[in-house]
Amino acid sequence: MKVAFFGDVHGCALHALGAAVLLGRRRGIRLDALIQVGDLGAYPSPERWDEPSRRFGADNPAQHDFFRLLDPPPRIAEGVRLALAEVPPFLFVSGNHEDHDWLASLHQAGDAVVTPVDPLGSHRHVACGNVIEVAGQRTAFLGLIELPGKMDLDPDAYARLLAAEPGSVDILITHDGPYGMSERHGTIQGSPKLLKLLEHLQPRLHVSGHYHHQNGPRRYGRTTSYALAQLVQPKRHGEDPDLGPRIAPGSIGLLDTETYDFEYIHDPWLAEVNGDALDLPTLLTTH
Ligand SMILES: [Fe+2]
Repeated sequence: MKVAFFGDVHGCALHALGAAVLLGRRRGIRLDALIQVGDLGAYPSPERWDEPSRRFGADNPAQHDFFRLLDPPPRIAEGVRLALAEVPPFLFVSGNHEDHDWLASLHQAGDAVVTPVDPLGSHRHVACGNVIEVAGQRTAFLGLIELPGKMDLDPDAYARLLAAEPGSVDILITHDGPYGMSERHGTIQGSPKLLKLLEHLQPRLHVSGHYHHQNGPRRYGRTTSYALAQLVQPKRHGEDPDLGPRIAPGSIGLLDTETYDFEYIHDPWLAEVNGDALDLPTLLTTH
């Protein structure tokens, strides 16, 4: 089976759906699962955005697209339905930029480990510390980041996974990465707790986000670990305004569960999924 992994979306949910469909079409494959590694930008309204989301969202209209999924006008609903006719819904874990109280309330209301967050069912949140079967793989989810305070890894969820038998999980999905994975401005990036978890659980594959750049493969015993780039880079000063925000190379990974081959997607068509106001039905009927 084929599983596609998506880096930090930060609200650009229509770009994510468009990229998933084009990935399947251009490779001539059926995607059995889509997994998003957190920072989907899952807030119920712009008023609930945190300060960084507000700042980036002001310059990047597409970062508002998640809200369009929550109360979809006909054009958006049509685009999402077209997409879901070809790809499964996204499963996502919490990043540090989501409304965690809102997500918790959705889980409580349905009393479920996995809960849809939008009326069309295009995105489903997986609560931290759970192992579910995805495309036949035992897949563990642990969101948030190692940072004292309200973004910190959930201690119960972390303890539950740390108590699981080594080898009992095939794929581990986290938002933060393992300590030592990279360095930026003299600071070593990653979480010591996640490094410990990775070395204990020894999944075949680990995929993470948060640091917004492609990083991997890295080996930890029998585990191969990859970090994904941010799906749609925020606008930068001097960027060509005609191109608009587009899918970044290294922000999507593709796994073949038969061989466990994992590939970062760098295909030229990534740039076709672009724009401040992505019209999903047009993209999906012309590409
Ligand atoms: Fe992020």
